Amino acid sequence: MQNVTIHIIDREGKKHAVLAPTDMAMNLMEVVRSYELAPEGTIGICGGMAMCASCQCYVNSAHKLNAMEDDEDAMLAEAFNVKDNSRLSCQISISGVLNDLEIELAPEV
Ligand code: FES
Repeated sequence: MQNVTIHIIDREGKKHAVLAPTDMAMNLMEVVRSYELAPEGTIGICGGMAMCASCQCYVNSAHKLNAMEDDEDAMLAEAFNVKDNSRLSCQISISGVLNDLEIELAPEV
């Protein structure tokens, strides 16, 4: 599968269905940025290193995602507005298993 559809609820509550390529080694934060679904400078501040939490999202669908690494877990422990379904979108690689994933962007910090 070359593209997957990702449903993204932006910080204003607007829902977008976007196509994300599975063969470009992209992560979910980069997809959000590439579609400009959050203002420049408010997401991906650390460049995807799990060091800023600006890319936090809530995973609304029941997809089985890659397990959290220690650095993501530690960053979320310090972040604001964290919920049980919080993830750092920069730590989620785009792959075929994500088709129809639904996420919501956490509020800007
Ligand atoms: S972009 Fe900084 S933690 Fe994801």
